[in-house]
Amino acid sequence: MTSSIMQGARILSLGSAVPDLRLSNKDISKMVDTSDEWIVTRTGIKERRILTDANKSVVDLAVLASKKALNKISMDPKNIDLIILATSSPNDLFGSASQIQDRIGAKNAAAFDLTAACTGFVLAVITASQFIQNGSYSTILVIGADTLSKWTDWTDRSTCILFGDGAGAAIIQACSKENNGIIGFQINTDGRQSKDLSIGYQESTKADKSTWPSNNNGQFKYIQMNGKEVYKFAISKVPNSILSCINKLNIKIEEIDWIVLHQANQRILDTVAEKLNISSNKMITNLNRYGNTSAASIPLALSEAVELNQIMYNDFIAISGFGAGLTWGTIIIQWKC
Ligand code: COA
Repeated sequence: MTSSIMQGARILSLGSAVPDLRLSNKDISKMVDTSDEWIVTRTGIKERRILTDANKSVVDLAVLASKKALNKISMDPKNIDLIILATSSPNDLFGSASQIQDRIGAKNAAAFDLTAACTGFVLAVITASQFIQNGSYSTILVIGADTLSKWTDWTDRSTCILFGDGAGAAIIQACSKENNGIIGFQINTDGRQSKDLSIGYQESTKADKSTWPSNNNGQFKYIQMNGKEVYKFAISKVPNSILSCINKLNIKIEEIDWIVLHQANQRILDTVAEKLNISSNKMITNLNRYGNTSAASIPLALSEAVELNQIMYNDFIAISGFGAGLTWGTIIIQWKC
């Protein structure tokens, strides 16, 4: 890959943000027929953060995470060329990225949304790296942010235990080819299983068909999920995605220092580690505290790991996202900070 790029791309800074309100398993067990023990055993989740302020949205979390990433490296937001917001819960269906551009003062940046649910951050980093490695842009802000609590049916115990709200931001910048840190990727989609995880739009049954066009007052439904199918999909596709990606780069699985998977379920993380025959110590996890934060989960976990000084210069990191679509994908990063 290095030979075909005009310049390198590396993650320079990360930031994250979560709402203050913690919703514990005990709290949820007062809402639906479940228990802390069931949730911890089946998912590993103990609590999640929920955005309760009706005046706040995914944009507020994304702005906070972005400002933290910028402040860490004292970067002037006017230096950002492009903002990519990976989200499936925008506060505007036409896109929310432009609101972030305005609120952080990145007046020179183009901005757009990218929708790919829990694979969103991986796809956004890959997209950003293409813009940088082909020489088009120098500095890109990539954000993964979701507030799926707004799309959760809080009477459905099979889904409401899983999701939480959050945002993570990464500043990706051009560098020399030798310092290139985003060294490989692999992405896939299987639309045949799109119904296994979706927030579908439903036409109103009360719509007046005699007049057209008319406002039919349809609405998006809550999260619909076939948990068993999604579970089977994740544990079969993710290990293969990582292996095919590292094989192309001639990297052995033993050389991978860290694995950062989309934080969906501890049992998925454990099974993937087992299938890859890697130590669970290499698997970065924080889902016990945040649940599944969709596009935010990978940058949240990566940001915390960097803050804890777990990740060292030149470490190889395999990052995999998976989820609705169904989509999945891996990026291999060599840490260059
Ligand atoms: N509390 C208590 N019991 C529950 C429950 C809950 N929150 N949710 C389901 N159950 C019950 C079911 O009704 C079922 O009862 P039954 O045997 O009497 O019919 C039983 O527990 C087993 O349900 P099942 O759906 O088979 O559980 P599971 O082991 O598949 O675990 C998930 C459910 C959702 C935790 C699991 O399927 C999963 O994590 N899937 C992946 C989901 C995911 O990660 N989605 C996002 C990807 S981006």
